[in-house]
Amino acid sequence: MTLLDSARGLRIPSPRPPRRGVFISFEGGDGAGKSTQMQMLQEHLVTERSVAEELILTTREPGGTSLGESIRDLLLHGEHVDPRAEALLYAADRAHHIATVVRPHLARGGLVLGDRYLDSSIAYQGAGRALDPDEIGSLSLWAADGLLPHRTILLDAPTQTLHERRPSQRDRLEEAGAEFHEAVRTEFLELAAADPERFAVIDGTLPREEVHAQVLAAVGEVLALFDPSFEPVPPTRHRDEQ
Ligand code: TYD
Repeated sequence: MTLLDSARGLRIPSPRPPRRGVFISFEGGDGAGKSTQMQMLQEHLVTERSVAEELILTTREPGGTSLGESIRDLLLHGEHVDPRAEALLYAADRAHHIATVVRPHLARGGLVLGDRYLDSSIAYQGAGRALDPDEIGSLSLWAADGLLPHRTILLDAPTQTLHERRPSQRDRLEEAGAEFHEAVRTEFLELAAADPERFAVIDGTLPREEVHAQVLAAVGEVLALFDPSFEPVPPTRHRDEQ
């Protein structure tokens, strides 16, 4: 078999939401309010909807595992990283995070709230770093073995607004110029337009309570898939925790 034959034989898993549990991801530019909105949703579910705290996993990429936190540090606070190496590091973080944290929680029937997922790679590495967004999408799907969220909340805001919101101490990605962040925003919006069933686009410049109300409306349907009366099964140990 030649190298060309091997390349043709690459199998990218087809994208699909999990069979059990519910997976919601939050996306948007830096400073769009993802972490705040995720936390508000989590609090709402626990206090207003009586969902058991242990059924809700809030997590983030990069990070979310101890390996991921090390990768995060290299990516955000290290030296220059070649764009392809950067794409592979985000994919490596995702592969480990999905396999060891996200999938086991979903398999127990839990709810996963993710601060960034594969759309960030397509927007930042694909469009921002001018790699091919389709290739980055395939790489991410391969890394995550095809896992797609049931719903993705895209918090959208103009690049200049986000720039003004960001603290003066910026990480490596946040430091990239206005053109980079504009390309990221455009790609996010294109991804959302191409898949309106998965995405809900919310104006991130609105007051946070208003954004929260829109988030609740956007996740209502998928939360109905989730049975709050479900008794959590005790967590299974993973190979890398033993
Ligand atoms: P984030 O955790 O949102 O930053 P903050 O520390 O401000 O909360 O994301 C970290 C950075 O990583 C952000 O600039 C976006 C970038 N990123 C990518 O470039 N590709 C990816 O696949 C992911 C998940 C994040």
